[in-house]
Amino acid sequence: MIILGIETSCDETAAAIVEESGDRQRPWRLRSSVVASQMALHREWGGIVPELSARQHIRDICPVVRGALAQADVVDVDAIAVTQGPGLVGSLLVGLSFAKSLAWARGVPLVPVHHLAGHIESLTLENGEMALPAVVLVVSGGHTSLYRVDVPGRYELLGRTRDDAAGEAYDKVAKLLGLGYPGGPIIDRRAANGDDRAIPFPKTRITHADRNAPEVPGTRDFSFSGLKTSVLRHVMLRRAALGIGEQEPLPDREIDDICASFQRVVVETLVDRLFDAARWYGARSVGIAGGVSANSRLRAESRTRGAARDIPVFVPSIVLSTDNAAMIAAAGLRNFRGGVTATWDLSAKASLMLT
Ligand code: KG4
Ligand code: ZN
Repeated sequence: MIILGIETSCDETAAAIVEESGDRQRPWRLRSSVVASQMALHREWGGIVPELSARQHIRDICPVVRGALAQADVVDVDAIAVTQGPGLVGSLLVGLSFAKSLAWARGVPLVPVHHLAGHIESLTLENGEMALPAVVLVVSGGHTSLYRVDVPGRYELLGRTRDDAAGEAYDKVAKLLGLGYPGGPIIDRRAANGDDRAIPFPKTRITHADRNAPEVPGTRDFSFSGLKTSVLRHVMLRRAALGIGEQEPLPDREIDDICASFQRVVVETLVDRLFDAARWYGARSVGIAGGVSANSRLRAESRTRGAARDIPVFVPSIVLSTDNAAMIAAAGLRNFRGGVTATWDLSAKASLMLT
């Protein structure tokens, strides 16, 4: 079976062809993957502008899908998978309407996919089936969520961020340091030259709604907005101390140290929560997916921690860590084999939950 995947939830228009391999351990083979990034379009505004994003998807969707079919040397597909949500509703609607029309015209089933299930399945697409139970961290610009997978294709939410996603914190910190957009890769690069102990930014402790109650055992939630505020406060204090104006950057050395210190706290928080959950649930493997999984320190530390605990760690290649349609096609095959197809009244859902 060959499936076309379509992804337009945020600022990438993507299409891909994935086929079943017949091998239970490595069930899918990637035939093509095309991504048209809108990064340059949004950079000017310092973040994603939803209306511009939706309009650019309309311009790009036809050539991107054509490109994916041509690269795979495929004319007919057996099904079409599309991201139903979560994401920017105007952007989602472009992919969804296109996928619906194409599926209807070609007389093939339409398969709805949750964007985060796509990120999780990118791990199986590249590495084969994970040993279960697995604990997977999905960490991107819009999400920081921890899932347990006991059965392939069933995802149980263990915890999520209560405010900013980790990628969002990267992007906001980069913006306040005047480093540009998207912030993740820039901070990752600058951190390599900095001292990660230079500034003692605090790690967030998640407390009970009743602040006098003890920390809930087993809580798996995240919070990054306090860390972002600490960076902002530090930057303001340093500007005042150095007599630098609000629009002027701090000295390069200081920026490198801030990046390294911020990144240490983010990565330690993510890795600690992930491996705590893995131990708690007796996971036989762990995974990290989503845009932030491209982070060099997160990759290195999770590998070290996995080796120390003798637990395999799955991370996608850089091209499959940020948004793409290969992961949507893979998750679409998983859904289709699980009996999931959509009716023609399928609608985009900006806040779609994954269990
Ligand atoms: O998964 P993704 O492409 O889109 C969403 O679904 O959000 O993730 C994009 C996010 C952005 O916030 C970007 O700054 C972050 O992933 N990112 C990184 C790195 N590369 C991308 N964050 C930290 N380190 C990186 N190397
Ligand atoms: Zn994503």
